[in-house]
Formats: sequence, structure tokens, C-alpha cells
Amino acid sequence: MSAVGSVSALHGRHAIVTGGARGIGLAIARRYLADGASVALWDIEADVLAQALEALSPRGPVSAAVVDVRDEAQVDAAVGQSLRAFGAIDLLVNNAGVLGPTVNAWTHTPAQWRQVLDINLTGAWLCCRAVVPHMLARSMPPADAQRRGRIVNVASVAGKEGNGLNAAYSASKAGLIALTKSLGKELATQGVLVNCITPSAADTAVFAGVPAEHREQLNQALLARVPMGRFVEVDEVAAMAAWLAGGDCSFSTGAVFDISGGRSVY
Ligand SMILES: NC(=O)c1ccc[n+]([C@@H]2O[C@H](COP(=O)([O-])OP(=O)(O)OC[C@H]3O[C@@H](n4cnc5c(N)ncnc54)[C@H](O)[C@@H]3O)[C@@H](O)[C@H]2O)c1
Repeated sequence: MSAVGSVSALHGRHAIVTGGARGIGLAIARRYLADGASVALWDIEADVLAQALEALSPRGPVSAAVVDVRDEAQVDAAVGQSLRAFGAIDLLVNNAGVLGPTVNAWTHTPAQWRQVLDINLTGAWLCCRAVVPHMLARSMPPADAQRRGRIVNVASVAGKEGNGLNAAYSASKAGLIALTKSLGKELATQGVLVNCITPSAADTAVFAGVPAEHREQLNQALLARVPMGRFVEVDEVAAMAAWLAGGDCSFSTGAVFDISGGRSVY
């Protein structure tokens, strides 16, 4: 899929992409750079982040920060770093996430349960908490469209449907959908649009914790639920995230954007 949509649609915009070192986050960062934005990649894994920074640097203005989105002090410090580097934050993509254990709901340990909720839901909220005041300071009407803030939350079809054997993950993504709806309503008249994306399965490192002998079985089970019968490409998710960040998206907020090959038809 081409990385070039409407060229320069994000020219002059400054983005943070959490979990941006690989997978869907890296694809979104690549697409935002192609569309003219500057991008701060945040990720917890320093080595992978350094590789991503090296790969993306020739494509445009990009920076990287090692950030654990569970830690408000790290999030606040990285927001300050992004503001010093770019002067503003226009776009926040809450993408960092983990799958957690593939077990029955009642056999998650409390630590496993809290870890998934902390990263996928509370982490996204901490990033919103740190970034929204800066977005509001520059996006209040009558500011021009170029100054409007955009938040894109990467949820999952699991948050709509509740996947068996992934209760913590599904609950965290359902929570992220609800956070999107609440925040979207709160900011609707203040120049900041908040939306989320609910992809079906993409073939990324998110499944790295699944034992190799179970992977083929899991793939078949995942794809059996998708009428189009394939994984979503990370560039397809990035294209949706680019539209949500750009000026053509002007009357959608608190909304859930499906990208599931026909699996989830609402
Ligand atoms: N791959 C899929 O099938 C799929 C489907 C729907 C939604 N999603 C969601 O898309 C997002 C990206 O997933 P992906 O498939 O690209 O996975 P991935 O594992 O390739 O990427 C996730 C990134 O998040 C980072 N991360 C994890 N914990 C973090 C933390 N505490 N702080 C900062 N960064 C952290 C990881 O280091 C990694 O680079 C996730 O939120 C995931 O739940 C994925």
C-alpha cells in the first residue's frame, strides 16, 4: 500500500506516537512523516526505538524518547522534551499496548491483569492528561484549523466483542473506547477531536508472547472471524490514523473507526 495519501496533509503538524518503535505505531509514524508532520516516537524498548529512529530519520523530522506510558513522571518529562523539540503538540497517537496472557479470565494473576490495564488504558489516559492542556492552549476557537488538536487512540475489535482468553486485553480496549467517547464529548467544542481505531488482527510483534506451537492455530482462529480472510496491514491502519489526524476529518469526535475486514460491522 502506498504511504503517500494527500501529500503534505499534515505539513507543520507535530505528533507523538506512543509504542512507535515497531508495528502499527512505526507505520503510523512513517505515514505521518510522509504526510509532512514531525514525529516524536515514544517507546519502552530502547534498542528497537533506536533502530526505528535510524530508519525514519531520512524521511523527515523525527525524535525518540524512551518512555514507559505507565509512569506519569516519564510521560510529563517526554511531553516537555517534545515541546522543546517541536514547539507544540498537535497530534497524539495512543498506540502503546500489550496483549497480555492468553488464558481464562479467572486465571490471570492480579499482576498480569493490572499490567495490561496499566499500559493499554491508564497509559493512554496519562498521555492525554499530559498533552490535552497544551493542545487546548493553542486550539481554542477561533484558532485556525492548523492549530486543532487531534488524539487517535489505537483500541481493538477485542474491545467491542470481548475476545475469549484475552479478558484483560479486551477490557482494556473497551475502556479505551469509553475514554475516547468521554474525552471526545468533553473537548468537542474546544478544537480537539478524539477518535479511536478498532483493528482486527495485524501480524506484528504483539503476538510474540504466544508459544510458537500455538501460533498457527491462533492465526487460523483469528482469520476465521474476518470475512476478508486476512490480517490487516499496518499501513492500512496508518492510513486511517492519517485521515483522523488531517483536515478532512472535521466533524467526527468520540467515534470508533472500524478496520476489521468485515468482522465487526458496527
Ligand atoms: N497487532 C494486532 O493484531 C492488533 C490489533 C488491534 C489493535 N492492536 C493494537 O495496536 C497497538 C500496536 O500494536 P502492534 O500490533 O503494533 O504491537 P507491537 O508489539 O508490534 O508494538 C507495540 C509497541 O508498544 C510498546 N510498548 C509496550 N509497552 C509499553 C509501555 N509501557 N510504554 C511504552 N511503550 C510500550 C512496545 O515496546 C512496542 O514497540 C496496540 O495498542 C495493540 O493493542 C494490535
